[in-house]
Amino acid sequence: MEYKVGYIGFGGMISGYHYAAVTTDETLPFEPTAVFDIDPERRADAEKRGLLAFDNPEDFFAHGGYDLVVVGTANNYHCEMACRAMEAGFNVMTEKPAARNAAEVEKMIAVSEKTGRLFTVHQNRRWDGDFLMIRQALEDGVIGKPFMIESRIHSKNGNGDMYGWRGMEDHGGGMLLDWGVHMLDQLLFLVNEPVKTVSAVVRPLWSEEVDDYAKVLLTFESGLAAQMEVSTYNPIPLPRWIVYGDRGAMTMQEMGDRAVHVRRMTGDSSAVEKAKAFEDFRVVLRDQSRHRIDGFEEFDTDNTPGGDWHSLYRNLAGVLAGTEELIVKPRQVLNCMKVIDAAFRSSREGVTVRL
Ligand SMILES: NC(=O)c1ccc[n+]([C@@H]2O[C@H](COP(=O)([O-])OP(=O)(O)OC[C@H]3O[C@@H](n4cnc5c(N)ncnc54)[C@H](O)[C@@H]3O)[C@@H](O)[C@H]2O)c1
Repeated sequence: MEYKVGYIGFGGMISGYHYAAVTTDETLPFEPTAVFDIDPERRADAEKRGLLAFDNPEDFFAHGGYDLVVVGTANNYHCEMACRAMEAGFNVMTEKPAARNAAEVEKMIAVSEKTGRLFTVHQNRRWDGDFLMIRQALEDGVIGKPFMIESRIHSKNGNGDMYGWRGMEDHGGGMLLDWGVHMLDQLLFLVNEPVKTVSAVVRPLWSEEVDDYAKVLLTFESGLAAQMEVSTYNPIPLPRWIVYGDRGAMTMQEMGDRAVHVRRMTGDSSAVEKAKAFEDFRVVLRDQSRHRIDGFEEFDTDNTPGGDWHSLYRNLAGVLAGTEELIVKPRQVLNCMKVIDAAFRSSREGVTVRL
């Protein structure tokens, strides 16, 4: 069975990735049929590829027959277009960020529940190779119990500046909603427990309207902490990942690295010793436990296969066939957007936000 797909917005990501993915990978049972885009050039490109192209949503929805509508407009239209598509009877996947804020995502979930239509988001970076390798190493307990997970994208050459609609506040521009949403979604998916607090610095460096630097510190109910930092102008870049645990630490320098580098203790011991303390101008001895590390080992984890973004489409096909559970769940997307709202507030008001 081939699932018919309609696209709202046929720009860089939809034409360059979504359309290309399902038309070149024969294992993906999706068939693009029609497009709605307000830009005549983008409609002409769609027509060249054999798709029907509409210049308004009414005709696009009336043409219908879609098993899935993918929304890939600028971020400010995700909510409106997704809701209209679900109201018109179609399942929807929006590009990330799902929308501009949690209130919009709540509206999208309400429409999905009311209409019974599927709503999901293209959080494809859950299938990035580096992320999968870090997750595997954590699951394998390579560094013991983690206490701090640091996820960074530092662009040392000033690439990734906020241009076009990405630099416009009313379009949902800015780095936190662009790369930040990928990185926070990964962290929340990895940790899978409620966020306790959010503290952040989110600010423009060179951009005129929106943030192009963001650092967000999360604490979780268990005591684990995680940090996300995305910076487009960072001449001395730090590694993509550093994770600290009670038995060691691990790092990946670049997103394309094929292994996780680990440094961990080979042995340790704890003993109760007598320690000097000073009370009432007297020297006394107190029992105190002391931890000693015997040594460390360093190694790279076994190479694992790289990431595969098509897995998201494979899951979607399974969901539409009724054989699989949806991996990118609306409630997870909402939780991530609440963290982003809290990060903006934390930075604006100079406070730590309790979720
Ligand atoms: N998941 C990823 O890895 C990834 C990567 C890049 C972009 N994206 C997301 O994809 C979306 C699109 O980004 P892009 O880089 O392709 O942008 P783009 O500007 O190249 O494409 C946007 C398209 O939407 C059309 N459009 C704008 N408003 C519209 C409206 N109201 N109705 C119909 N069409 C409209 C534009 O004409 C354009 O063709 C964004 O949400 C972005 O965050 C995701």
